[in-house]
Amino acid sequence: MNALPIPSAGARLSGRTALITGAARGQGASHAERLASEGARVLACDVLDDEGKATAARLQEAGLDVEYLHLDVTSPDDWARAVDRARTATGRLDVLVNNAGIIHVNPLLDERTEDWNTTLAVNTTGPLLGIQAAVPLMRSGGGGSVINVASIFGVVGAPGYVAYCASKGALVALTKTAALELAVDGIRVNAICPGGVSTPMNEHEKEGGVIPQTPLGRRAHVREISGAVAFLASDDSSFITGTEMIVDGGFLAH
Ligand code: NAI
Repeated sequence: MNALPIPSAGARLSGRTALITGAARGQGASHAERLASEGARVLACDVLDDEGKATAARLQEAGLDVEYLHLDVTSPDDWARAVDRARTATGRLDVLVNNAGIIHVNPLLDERTEDWNTTLAVNTTGPLLGIQAAVPLMRSGGGGSVINVASIFGVVGAPGYVAYCASKGALVALTKTAALELAVDGIRVNAICPGGVSTPMNEHEKEGGVIPQTPLGRRAHVREISGAVAFLASDDSSFITGTEMIVDGGFLAH
């Protein structure tokens, strides 16, 4: 059996290009910082242009190779432009983190088709469009890693969150199908299912959200999710594809 090279810790992503959606703030900004600190050139994408530019400027000041790009994940044209930028900047795309997401609360029987469609457009169709746009460039570089940010609420239900749960459950299923179709190209596709994470997304939550059901008794810090993303982005996970990695402080162990 051929010996596998041991990835050098600290620079596991050296020479790689990564595109991260929803990277202006929250988990995406943390993923941008982590992947860049492991050596990647990062295209940090979002629709919040001011916040995204400020995040990229902060990371550049820290010596990291991060560029901000406007990308609405529901727009095939935006995807084409972003992948073109990767092509002109480095000629490659090794890592795609489909992190952008939205949430709203509505009881099942009051759910409006418009809100349902918007949620699925961003959380599920967005990653599909991203994979479709990214794969040709990834393939030409010999492979890559796609990481879809789903949720514990893609695995179990949550009252009031019918569209969100459906969108994330579909993303987990999309992940497995994409992994099967893209393995031949050396492209691994995995999902991450975070539990509660302290970000602007859950500022609206009353009574601590999922904290009472979380054995570790708190929400995750964004960096605790970024560690899992960096692992899936790197060759340390070279035999992992088509799976969902649960990062939830024990929430789903019940
Ligand atoms: P966040 O709200 O801070 O970040 C989401 C980012 O996505 C924002 O910067 C937003 O502008 C961007 N975004 C929204 N619509 C977009 C679009 N159409 N195109 C491009 N960007 C768009 O929230 P957070 O927590 O950082 O969310 C990151 C991911 O983690 C989401 O997919 C979310 O569903 C997921 N997640 C969050 C959890 C939490 O407790 N915060 C738990 C489990 C999963």
